[in-house]
Amino acid sequence: MTEARIYDAQKIKNLTRLIFTANGIPEADAETIAEGLILSDLRGVYSHGVVRVPMYCERLRHNLVNRMPKPTLKKTSIASLLMDGDNGMGFVVGKQAMAEAINLANDTGVALVGVKNSGHFGMSAFYLLQALIADMISFVYTNSSPAMPVWGGRSKFLGASPFAAAAPGGEYGPFVLDMACTVTARGKLKYAAQRGETIAPGLALDSEGKPTTDGNKAFHGVILPFGGVKGSSLAMLMEILSGVFTGAAFAGDVRNPHTDLTGPQNVGHFFMAIKPDLFMSLDDYKKRMDILFSRSKSCDKAEGFEEICIPGEIEARTEANRRENGIPFTPDVIRGLEKEANLVNVSPDLD
Ligand SMILES: NC(=O)c1ccc[n+]([C@@H]2O[C@H](COP(=O)([O-])OP(=O)(O)OC[C@H]3O[C@@H](n4cnc5c(N)ncnc54)[C@H](O)[C@@H]3O)[C@@H](O)[C@H]2O)c1
Repeated sequence: MTEARIYDAQKIKNLTRLIFTANGIPEADAETIAEGLILSDLRGVYSHGVVRVPMYCERLRHNLVNRMPKPTLKKTSIASLLMDGDNGMGFVVGKQAMAEAINLANDTGVALVGVKNSGHFGMSAFYLLQALIADMISFVYTNSSPAMPVWGGRSKFLGASPFAAAAPGGEYGPFVLDMACTVTARGKLKYAAQRGETIAPGLALDSEGKPTTDGNKAFHGVILPFGGVKGSSLAMLMEILSGVFTGAAFAGDVRNPHTDLTGPQNVGHFFMAIKPDLFMSLDDYKKRMDILFSRSKSCDKAEGFEEICIPGEIEARTEANRRENGIPFTPDVIRGLEKEANLVNVSPDLD
């Protein structure tokens, strides 16, 4: 594998921001997009970081995304809003939607913002962390383009659509769960295919719908949901709440952001914010979270485990380390950024 080199997070973020402004995105929105992408890389979620800049730029070049969207909001009940994202970049629409959910929940205790006409919004934890800064419990759902079969099927239909939820904590930090409904990342199958490697059983079907451990056959087939019918059902719920419920595209109609350049994606999202002191004082809630986490962490460990971690803890540690010491990137990711920079006459300053 090609050696990764360490880069300063701020420099990569600046370059990303400049690439988007040079592609016609307003300064504040380019900052939001760059912030969402670099946060993924800081937290070790490499698949949703700046590696995706060329994909987003390609969609901008094809005018498939509205560079200056004017999202509209409709109040549909005392605690719910429907946002039309006006086909803006998912990061921009998503951040605004979560801010609206937080504002409303400050009054109502619980608030829901449904979003239609949005785009791929990257790592769901970006919006969970936004809610945590406001000391809110949150649920963040999105639908996405077909990536895996519905349980019993053999071709792509449901999205990898992550299930994401967070809850503020006390001394041990927050709970941050952000998990795709696929059992593994497609990038891992691609890697196995390129190297002619086998993969673990239960990850994929070949193009004829048969279970396979052949990396190449798996890459040309489909990834399976995690936990069999359970992951498939959760992905269907993401599709219901983000797609059917909001008026966004659904049932296989969200366009693949990489390969389908025939029109906007019309992705749907679902943001829920809840005040953690709805049933007791915030202090009591946080003390109870500490009890849950301290007792979890002190459980007897299974063979092979040195430590019990809370969801989000490993990513938070990675983030703290990378903010201090930089982020490793392989040359292909940097080449992708430099190519995009050259296309819009931006000079990369990464050294
Ligand atoms: N926007 C989209 O359409 C889209 C689609 C698919 C995936 N994604 C993103 O892809 C990213 C990667 O998803 P993934 O499923 O590969 O994540 P993952 O498998 O790396 O992690 C899933 C969850 O498990 C937790 N976890 C992992 N190891 C743990 C341990 N040892 N102890 C306790 N908790 C642990 C993590 O904190 C995380 O919350 C997510 O950020 C997701 O939002 C986005």
